[in-house]
Amino acid sequence: MTKNVLITGTSTGVGFESAILFAQKGYKVYATMRNPSKAEGLRKRIADEKLNVEILELEVTETKSIQSAVNTIIEKDGKIDILINNAGAGFAKTTEQSTEEEIRWVTDVNYLGTVFCTQVVLPFMRKQKSGQIISVTSVGGLVGQPFNELYCGAKFAVEGFMEGLATYVTDAFNIKISCIEPGGIATEFMKSAIAKTAVDGQFATGEYLPIFERYMAGNQKRASESKETVYQTGLEVAEVLLKVAQNENPPLRIRTSKWAEDFCALKTQADPDGSKIVNQIKSSFL
Ligand SMILES: NC(=O)c1ccc[n+]([C@@H]2O[C@H](COP(=O)([O-])OP(=O)(O)OC[C@H]3O[C@@H](n4cnc5c(N)ncnc54)[C@H](OP(=O)(O)O)[C@@H]3O)[C@@H](O)[C@H]2O)c1
Repeated sequence: MTKNVLITGTSTGVGFESAILFAQKGYKVYATMRNPSKAEGLRKRIADEKLNVEILELEVTETKSIQSAVNTIIEKDGKIDILINNAGAGFAKTTEQSTEEEIRWVTDVNYLGTVFCTQVVLPFMRKQKSGQIISVTSVGGLVGQPFNELYCGAKFAVEGFMEGLATYVTDAFNIKISCIEPGGIATEFMKSAIAKTAVDGQFATGEYLPIFERYMAGNQKRASESKETVYQTGLEVAEVLLKVAQNENPPLRIRTSKWAEDFCALKTQADPDGSKIVNQIKSSFL
């Protein structure tokens, strides 16, 4: 029977590539985006390749919007097999110089959006006694980085949320839980983050400025020295998502590249895929 998949944030990048790849591989794809006027590129690929993709509106920070998209899927298919929490947004700014509105926004999009989408699909997956929830986090969900503390904090929160779920919903209801942890991906992500964060072309001011300039110079140097190894394409990350979806026993944590693996090694070497910690928690608490 054809498996269906709901993917958030499919207007660009990893979400866009995943929608196409999953459909090419035989899944029924519900490609969701907050602004369907950005669907033109996806519509063209769907038409050109006659793909089994339906585009739905879904704003991850609004539970009504999530509920409405999920209801549509349930009405059509009577089930939901896979949720991919992909929507997210970068943010690079000091905590001191971020507004309350910005702090709420970066947390809403990256963390609460994942929680709300998961909350809405869980009752259907529990009743089905099957399902899979995959969240795209980041190496920033494991390692805090300068000027990215608010983004990293939100991605750490997603990691903790998913880890907690993995300790009981998999065994009880056959709902598989995984976090995908990419390093850099060449998508719209940086452009969107810059547009969102910069004030008059500046990301940091005052005593933070020289530290920020050192950070940016280091970033540029690393990127120019090793572009291929640091940055993956959206399609490469989509291919990792597909492998996880096809895996009967997917791990909790998956870095998507050697660069990402090396970057997180100090945090992950004791338990690279998260299985040991999940088993330890299960045996001590359940
Ligand atoms: N690019 C990187 O370097 C990188 C590295 C590690 C992890 N990641 C993670 O990878 C995932 C995909 O990012 P990407 O690289 O493909 O970036 P992207 O091209 O900027 O795509 C992000 C997607 O999320 C959507 N989105 C943002 N806010 C939303 C909201 N409130 N409701 C619904 N959709 C929303 C965007 O929609 P709009 O087009 O409407 O803005 C877009 O479709 C994200 O979770 C990101 O945090 C990215």
